[in-house]
This record gives sequence, structure tokens and C-alpha cells, in this order.
Amino acid sequence: MHEGPAGEPAPSPSAASVAPLLRPEGWALLEALPPYGGPDAAMALGERLRAEGADPAVVAAALTQSRLRARAEAKFGPFAAGMLLTAEGLEQATRLQVAAHHAQRFRDAGCTRVADLGCGIGGDAMALASLGLGVLAVERDEATAAVATVNLRHWPEAQVHRADVLDVVAELGRDAGVDGAWLDPARRTAAGRRVLDPHRASPPWSTVLDVARRVPATGAKLAPGVPRDLAAGSGLPAEVQWVSVDGDVVEAVCWFGPLARPGRAASALVLRSPGRGGAATLLDDADLPVPPALASPDGVGAYLYDPDGAVVRSGLVGQVAALVGGSLLDPTIAYVTSDRLVSTPLARALAVEEVWPFGLKALRTRLRDRGVGAVEVLKRGSAVDVEQLRRSLRLAGPHRATLVLTRVAGRQHVLLCRPAAPAPALTAG
Ligand SMILES: C[S@@+](CC[C@H](N)C(=O)[O-])C[C@H]1O[C@@H](n2cnc3c(N)ncnc32)[C@H](O)[C@@H]1O
Repeated sequence: MHEGPAGEPAPSPSAASVAPLLRPEGWALLEALPPYGGPDAAMALGERLRAEGADPAVVAAALTQSRLRARAEAKFGPFAAGMLLTAEGLEQATRLQVAAHHAQRFRDAGCTRVADLGCGIGGDAMALASLGLGVLAVERDEATAAVATVNLRHWPEAQVHRADVLDVVAELGRDAGVDGAWLDPARRTAAGRRVLDPHRASPPWSTVLDVARRVPATGAKLAPGVPRDLAAGSGLPAEVQWVSVDGDVVEAVCWFGPLARPGRAASALVLRSPGRGGAATLLDDADLPVPPALASPDGVGAYLYDPDGAVVRSGLVGQVAALVGGSLLDPTIAYVTSDRLVSTPLARALAVEEVWPFGLKALRTRLRDRGVGAVEVLKRGSAVDVEQLRRSLRLAGPHRATLVLTRVAGRQHVLLCRPAAPAPALTAG
């Protein structure tokens, strides 16, 4: 079935869920609620509030909101408790940690007022405003624009404008008073299907380029699967950065003009969430000369490195090989090997115990000899069906192992691995 571009206006289910809370009595009830205590506690609380005479529609909206705020803590931490949310808006919102990196980039480029074109519930706009930047937030969905207005209430320099981005683009760069622009196009159709093609997102890629031509300091968030050369034909200077949080690739961002660093077409930003230390590690395509891939399987070293997804997506696996003093296993495969053990957030290190050409019989014998009863299987460039392989191996024994099924110097191999012992942190490139 053909569906139109993502985010086409449709009756918003959010409107009904937030409208009662935009009235003073609704907001007061919401603010007086205890923290969300699960569905049973919420049901009991709802019954009590209705018995005390509260309007059932207001109670329902406030309890929904309380549940959404609890869910939003994963993205917004303690700020979630003061936010207004819609289920769709929360799902699409940029998490605070990542939005803070976006905002910092605008500030570092000297921007003072940024247009957030399709601001949703305001995840990115809040981060921009909290760094002291003025924000012109544009959103076409009425309920979502109202929610963003509530979420931006602490920052008088942030205004929400209910409009279609396509109708305001022509004013940008002329009299809109902005020196930066941010777009996070909707990537879901009205029917809820995911849209991977940036040309079919809303606003579409053509609008992103149109904005970037009018406002050179433009950034646009995209699905992680976008091609690396997406901006190449535009004639605009651009850097695409892939971002991961705790190993999950959450976005690619195309940074244009002064937001793109000269000579950097691709980069990877590897983040740990605040609960896991909050570190940020950046890798660039211009950082290091890429070493050649292995010429023979004999060259497999004592360690295998499985690079973070943001590194793989950005095509910077060769730079990781340079960082750890190693080589790619194969020119077309995103695994690195080295005799050195270094600790880097950019890749997970495994100690290699044995390497041999792939063959089921040899694999079964070796695992049996070692008493391996459970395996983690990693694979790249291998057509093996992992579940079928597990069944055929008929594993038994007290030990665990990691099997890596991949191509080494052009031929299918198995690497039998175990977790590497902690290594000294990598301090210099
Ligand atoms: C992915 S969300 C933005 C999320 C936001 N960055 C955040 O962190 O909360 C995209 C938003 O763009 C809005 N949108 C899509 N097309 C639009 C258009 N042509 N004009 C204005 N808003 C639009 C959608 O309604 C949706 O709320």
C-alpha cells in the first residue's frame, strides 16, 4: 500500500489526552499527583480522585500524563517530572543527553537564535534554550505545539509558532531573525509505519537542503541507515555524524556550513548514558591513516575488536584499526585485529584463542574438547543461520565462549574468543 510522506496531518490522538491539562484545574491536579506507582496504584488513585469529585476526563488525562512522565525519565531524567508529553511526541523526541550535544554544536559555531523546524514536544528546543540560545520552534500539530509551549515555559527567549515548516522556509535567512536551523523530520507515516528514506520524511530532505541554503548553520537529524554520501551532491559543505548511546546507534546528523568541521565528511560520536558514566568519544575520518587489511589469516592477532555501531555506520573502522595498532580482518569486514590490548569505548575487545577455516565438524569437535556449553555468536560477512548452527552444535559443558563467524583475508573463518581482561585506557591517538 502506498502511503504519503511521513507526518502528514491527521487527527491528533494527543489533542484529547493533553487538552484537559492545559486548563488551570487540570494542571493543578497533575502537579499534585504522587509519582507514578504502576497500573494498580494508578487505578486506585483514579477511583479516589473521581470519588472526591474530580472531572473524570481530567483525572484520565492526568494519570496518562503521570505514566508518560515515568516513561520519559529514560530520555529526560529528572526534567521529565515537569514536562507535558504525548505518547508519539515522547517516542520521537531526542533524549536530553544527545540533544545537549546538538545544542553545544550550535553554540560553538557562534549561533544566537536557532529555528527548530518541526520541534515536536521540544526535546531539542529545550536543550538549545537551556544553553542560552534563543529558539524559534515551529510545529504544525496543534496539540504538540501546545505541549512544546508548556515544556519551553522556563525560557522566555524560546517561542513556539504553530505553522507548517514549508510555509516559513522562505522567510528564513531574511527576516526571521535566526542564524541557525535545526530539523528533526518526522519518520513515521500517519499510519505509524517507519520511513527510512529521508526524501519521504516530513519535512523532506529537499526542504532540509533548502533551509541549509538560506541558513548556512543548519543541522538535520536522520535515520542511522542514511547513505554516507547523502549530502555529497548538494554542493554544500557537510559532515554526517553517527551517534550511539550505550552501543545503540540512535541517529545520524547532517551538519552543514559552519556546523560541519572542515575536512571531516564523516564522524562517530560514541556516548555512554549518564548512568554508565556519561562519557563522550569522538572519532573523525581525518584522524589517522588507515592501515592495510590482513593479507593472510596467519596475521590474526591476540585480540579481536568489534567496533561500535556508530563507528561501523560512519565507515571509520579503519581508524579504529589505526588506534589499536592493528588491521582489518578483511577489506570488506568491520572487525579489527591486533596484538595490542587497549581499552577504548569505540570497540569491544575479545581475546582470540583459536582461528580456523569455517567447518561445522571442526567447530563441534573443538567446542566439545573445551567443554563449551554456551556460545555467544557474532557474525559479519557470513551467511550462517545462527539458530540452526546452535542446534547442530548440540553444545554441552560448563564453559562459555564467543564465536566470531566472518571472512578473514577473503575466506570464511571461525574465531574462538573470550572476553579480554581489562586493559589500560587508550589515551592518545
Ligand atoms: C521527530 S519529531 C521532532 C522531535 C523533536 N526534535 C524533539 O526532540 O522533541 C518531528 C515533528 O515535526 C513535525 N512536523 C512534521 N512535518 C512538519 C511540517 N511540515 N511543519 C511543521 N511541523 C512538522 C511533526 O508533527 C513532529 O512533531
